[in-house]
Amino acid sequence: MDKFEHINVKRIDKNIFKLIDDRWMLITAGTKEKFNMMTASWGAFGILWNKPVAIIFIRHNRYTFEFVEKNEIFTLSFFPKRYKEVLKFCGTKSGKNYNKVEETGLNPLFYDSDGIYFKEANLVFVCKKLFSSDIKDNLPPEIINKHYTDKIFHRMFIGEIKNCYKKNED
Ligand SMILES: Cc1cc2nc3c(=O)[nH]c(=O)nc-3n(C[C@H](O)[C@H](O)[C@H](O)COP(=O)(O)O)c2cc1C
Repeated sequence: MDKFEHINVKRIDKNIFKLIDDRWMLITAGTKEKFNMMTASWGAFGILWNKPVAIIFIRHNRYTFEFVEKNEIFTLSFFPKRYKEVLKFCGTKSGKNYNKVEETGLNPLFYDSDGIYFKEANLVFVCKKLFSSDIKDNLPPEIINKHYTDKIFHRMFIGEIKNCYKKNED
């Protein structure tokens, strides 16, 4: 397994739309003692307040929600294709009922200022929370009818990308 290389986000040469929508990512937050991760395929990357940012959308009923709420740092980990089943697991089972690290065999790496991400990842974003807000008001009726008949809304978390690491394997 390659070592992570620290890169400037402007040097990412992958199509970020494909990565998010097709490959998915793990959102991870917490402390060495207690953390959780979940799969996400909704997200956005861009520039805001002159900073590189990542925006994630987490429903209130996810266990991961409380970890992202409570901690300053969250990470986004993308993986080589062969980890699809791991991502499916982390996207269908809750950390409330499963120890996802034990179940998936992923190896978490713990850093004081970089949060928690995974040895098996091939692209990682370390994000520091800047802002969060529920996406609830002024939603078009067709979006409410399609996604929120249960009234469990998403909270948007905007994080400044503090560090980005990549490996060459695909
Ligand atoms: C492909 C895929 C993408 C997902 N994307 C999101 C997302 O962007 N936001 C979200 O709140 N849940 C998303 N989920 C659902 C959570 O990953 C799922 O509910 C997970 O079990 C939550 O785990 P937790 O309770 O341990 O946090 C997605 C699930 C899958 C399979």
